[in-house]
Amino acid sequence: MMRDAEARDVIRFAIESEFKCEVVTAGSVTRVIDTLLEGELYDLLVLEMYTQSSKLVRFLLSVDSNAPLILLQSKDAPSIPGVDRMRVLATLQPENAVAGIRAAIKQSNLNAKVTLDGDPSEFVRIQTTLLMKMVPLDADVFIRLSPKKYLRIFQSGDVFSAEDLERYYLKKNIPYFYCRVADRHVCLNKLKAIVQKKLTEGIQPRDVPGLVAETADILFEVMDTEGMTPEVVSFAQTSISAVIQGVRLRPQLSGLLDGLDMAKGTYRATHSALLAHVASVIGMRLNWVSNSTLEKLGFAALFHDSTLKSDELVKIETPEECDEIGGYQREIDNMKQIVLNHPLMAAEVIRKAKDLPPEIDMIIAQHHERPDGTGFPNKINHTQIAPLSALFIVAHEIVRLHLDKKLTVKEILVQLPGEYKQGVFKQIIQALRTMTDVVEV
Ligand SMILES: [Fe+2]
Ligand SMILES: [Fe+2]
Repeated sequence: MMRDAEARDVIRFAIESEFKCEVVTAGSVTRVIDTLLEGELYDLLVLEMYTQSSKLVRFLLSVDSNAPLILLQSKDAPSIPGVDRMRVLATLQPENAVAGIRAAIKQSNLNAKVTLDGDPSEFVRIQTTLLMKMVPLDADVFIRLSPKKYLRIFQSGDVFSAEDLERYYLKKNIPYFYCRVADRHVCLNKLKAIVQKKLTEGIQPRDVPGLVAETADILFEVMDTEGMTPEVVSFAQTSISAVIQGVRLRPQLSGLLDGLDMAKGTYRATHSALLAHVASVIGMRLNWVSNSTLEKLGFAALFHDSTLKSDELVKIETPEECDEIGGYQREIDNMKQIVLNHPLMAAEVIRKAKDLPPEIDMIIAQHHERPDGTGFPNKINHTQIAPLSALFIVAHEIVRLHLDKKLTVKEILVQLPGEYKQGVFKQIIQALRTMTDVVEV
């Protein structure tokens, strides 16, 4: 922003000669504010400082602008309060503007900060809350400006600080950042190392479901784009080891939601992490305690809804519920097919993974069957449902009612219909009733 039109042209030339960008000029403070209010993000602001500029400084502070500034200020111009709280790259005398602007741009490496036009499939999401755990960042990190536009905010090697978390997560309400698909392995490996470090340091058992839920989102992001790669399986194995370690130390169902912040992740991640915990606790109570059994339950929990890509679909319990969501009949029918088929599709996905214990696919394929035969897809009843699947079905019901309806485990046990008292289901419900913490909650 310069008041003088000729000076604006000179400044434009200085910027364009050093920085690949589109320059927007304005001749007054009001014009600058109007332009900024249109919502476009700017990589650099070059501002002439005069009395009226105090209004602009107040505006930039009020919107928490993080754009770097170059200030042009003549010797006799007044100093403006608040400037010291802004990101000033250089304060220049107007007569030195051209050389000074070029030097400041070069020094700040602005050309390295790029806005990419990209296909959304070229980026994977990372929760904002996870970035703080991943410092120093091993990959460039972007925010999504629009479905096809990504802006690099952090470069590999940068630190995502507590102030950044406050600025982006709490104040600007940005739950996710993005990294390039090519960098997803780097992020996944870093998260795996975090879980492993927590395991060796001795994580508090109560904190395990929260940690697994938080890290499961990027696991699912990678799985959605690449399938069950050895890397995905290895990451899942690390998370499941954390669950088993936590459950062996504290085989209880009370305080399940204590360590979970639902705002931090997707429903699919939270629901799957909690399910791994609840299924393992029930396994312990039934004395089905071998590592192999608990691992089967853990893998089934993490991947049972792997083909459902939206939280809306994960929350659906029966294909008929799709009618309640509404929309065009063709969309509803399509949704019903996805829901109806997902146990078998997800079983198929896990079958492709190498070196996993057997029966995980069976548990996943049966996870929506019901003791009285009213479930789906095969409508088998308690005489045909395998014991491990029965345990998993009960655990899934507990997690669903606990998360969605905020019922305690004790209330859930009272609510379960009579058919849960048949065959192996009866044994599972009895084991749950004997848990002291279930009686207490
Ligand atoms: Fe589920
Ligand atoms: Fe499901």
